[in-house]
Amino acid sequence: MTTIAPKKALTDVVLDVRDLEVEIAIPHRPVIRPVRGVSFTVSAGQRVGIVGESGSGKSLTALALMRLLPPRARIAGGIAVLGDRDLTRIAEGKMAAMRGGRISIVYQDPMSSLNPIMTIGRQITEAITTHEPVGGRAARAQAIDVLADVGLPQPHRRIDDHPHQFSGGMRQRVMIAMAICTNPDVLIADEPTTALDVTTQARIMEMLAHIVEERRMGVLLITHDLGLASSFCDDVNVMYAGRIVESGPSRDVLRTPSHPYSAALLESICRLDSDVDKPIAAIAGQPPLPHQLPSGCPFHPRCRHARDMCAAEAPVRTTSTGREVECHFPLEQLPPR
Ligand SMILES: Nc1ncnc2c1ncn2[C@@H]1O[C@H](COP(=O)(O)OP(=O)(O)O)[C@@H](O)[C@H]1O
Ligand code: SF4
Ligand SMILES: [Mg+2]
Repeated sequence: MTTIAPKKALTDVVLDVRDLEVEIAIPHRPVIRPVRGVSFTVSAGQRVGIVGESGSGKSLTALALMRLLPPRARIAGGIAVLGDRDLTRIAEGKMAAMRGGRISIVYQDPMSSLNPIMTIGRQITEAITTHEPVGGRAARAQAIDVLADVGLPQPHRRIDDHPHQFSGGMRQRVMIAMAICTNPDVLIADEPTTALDVTTQARIMEMLAHIVEERRMGVLLITHDLGLASSFCDDVNVMYAGRIVESGPSRDVLRTPSHPYSAALLESICRLDSDVDKPIAAIAGQPPLPHQLPSGCPFHPRCRHARDMCAAEAPVRTTSTGREVECHFPLEQLPPR
């Protein structure tokens, strides 16, 4: 894994998410709430991670911010302020102008964003002319520049190729180019390299780090991989069962996790100095489904530090030394074994 040095803390918040709630109403079933009171901020040039196992509510958080939730899902509470606009409340017409202009998203599967029957050049120039007052020729020149920035070789030639003419890694670079071509304030990257091999993943994350630093863009990286989040992000939010259970500087969370779930995720990272290509300790059991949330702390059935109180009472969020944790018995407060 390539370690990208975290940058110093920044203060000019561009995205302020507070108490975000997402609800899904499926006919003849109880309404579920897979995102429950999520709060975090992203500053200009800051790299923020949301990390957690599959099903923890990461993608729904991202889709809520983009106002691209699936049918039957809706934002049920909270705010998400980008600049001076609350993304949870503005009219769809205004949101369409923000989306792809001031906030954009990169998914795991580039083909979900790229049109297979259009050249990449046309797709990028259309994205530019939709959001910026430039003509076709200038937009094409800008598209070539942005393709060069994301590391596409010979962009002036490849701009007229179709998505299927690129490898998986190059296609992902093209999707990143499309997402950043309008210089958004915030780029959301939802598992952007999960489908790629480790070397390609490292190269793309390095390129992304370079680009967001240069353009002073805020990034929200969504991943199941705490190692990736910690190497890329300044700050990390650990998500479980729809809630952020620990947040803080990624180096601190990685070095001394406070929440037992963060510690368990950390233990499940493959050891890079080992020959064994397997997690050293997987977390027993599965995360709960939103309609089967355990009582009290939702992690209690899987937590090796759980006590009676954990099943009875939901822990409240506490803050100490720049870290916020939602646990009755944070690890640093446990007596040494
Ligand atoms: N369209 C949907 N309809 C019903 N449930 C959904 C839908 N999308 C997501 N969910 C449920 O919401 C939870 C969180 O989903 P998601 O945000 O995609 O998780 P993650 O990205 O962390 O893997 C999961 O338990 C999932 O089953
Ligand atoms: S509140 Fe209890 S069950 Fe939940 S993480 Fe903390 S110790 Fe474990
Ligand atoms: Mg997801």
